[in-house]
Amino acid sequence: MRAVILCAGEGTRMRPLTYSQAKHLIPIANKPVIDLILQAVKDAGIREIGIVVSPGARAGFKSYLQDGSRNDLELSYIVQQKPKGLAHAVQCAQGFVGSEPFLLYLGDNLLENGVRGLVEQFQQGDSHASISLVEVDNPRSFGVAWLEEDEIKKVVEKPDNPLTNLAVIGTYVFDHHIFAAIEKIGPSKRGELEITDAIQQLIDDGYRVVPHRVTGWWKDVGTPADMIDANQLLLDAMIPETRIKDGTNLEVKGKKGQNENAKVRDSRLIAPVMLGKDVVIESSVIGPYVSIGDGVIIRNSRIENSIILERAVIMGARSIDRSLIGRYAEVKSMGDSSSRFLLGDHSQALI
Ligand code: DAU
Repeated sequence: MRAVILCAGEGTRMRPLTYSQAKHLIPIANKPVIDLILQAVKDAGIREIGIVVSPGARAGFKSYLQDGSRNDLELSYIVQQKPKGLAHAVQCAQGFVGSEPFLLYLGDNLLENGVRGLVEQFQQGDSHASISLVEVDNPRSFGVAWLEEDEIKKVVEKPDNPLTNLAVIGTYVFDHHIFAAIEKIGPSKRGELEITDAIQQLIDDGYRVVPHRVTGWWKDVGTPADMIDANQLLLDAMIPETRIKDGTNLEVKGKKGQNENAKVRDSRLIAPVMLGKDVVIESSVIGPYVSIGDGVIIRNSRIENSIILERAVIMGARSIDRSLIGRYAEVKSMGDSSSRFLLGDHSQALI
């Protein structure tokens, strides 16, 4: 089986960070989202993966991931010229997929337990599609499914009056009939070819579509707040030896690429905290739930619940909370107030 990961789209909800890179390349717990997804797909036994990207983002993905061989994967890049919807993105991948069943993975979804269960369920069953479902409190924000016995009979994209609280999340397995279904649908109210409409078309054409109940947490990381929540979940899940423990004036000895050469002086780290390479922290209190990228410098600051990307510099910030600070950004503060930032790459905040 091959997999298709959808990473095109404009990332409008993640601006200004997405002006300089796709949201899928932004790290959470110091790992780009796309790496977390590729690992999940590989753990499900799939090595041939097509990544659907927008024309402007192709070079960034390719220079970071290359052909995938260093992770024992075979990656192909498929360009979607315009973000005309998820079903349109799937259509763009038809040549890559061929006539075999495939895993479809939306590039902004993270699952605690990955996609192995979904793939195995499809392989052992007799359906034409398996769709992952999660019970949510806010079904209006998602595709919503309605079941009859062990089959999905209705799916509606972001309904005003949801029939159930079962959200269709971003992982699916389809056989080739999905392509004929996509051919039959038209654009939705928001002008996109919706994958939910294509699934409904499959059902209406008499094909068997079954639910896959997801276990463990699931997170759509489409907004900065979602990324900060996912950072907490991932830092909590880190294995003990990769976590920095609580402490003051720690001498941090890390493994290659993780906490490597970190210099922490006159500071307190409150676990869990993740440090990249060559980080400098002085006279500061950091944590809990902070991920800090390579080469970041922090002095005289207090930071919790935040993601600080590589080579940012933070000086004198008395209280930073729930913030996402871009690469090479600078925060210099003289005041005493607490602050929340969403700073793009290379930006400056002097407060
Ligand atoms: O997260 C689950 C939800 O994902 C489902 O409940 C919905 O049924 C499904 O439509 C989708 O809704 P979103 O509004 O969250 O989709 P979004 O526009 O954020 O796109 C999801 C991913 O697909 C994202 O990584 C960008 C990529 N994408 C999006 C579009 C519109 C493409 O590759 N091409 C596109 O044309």
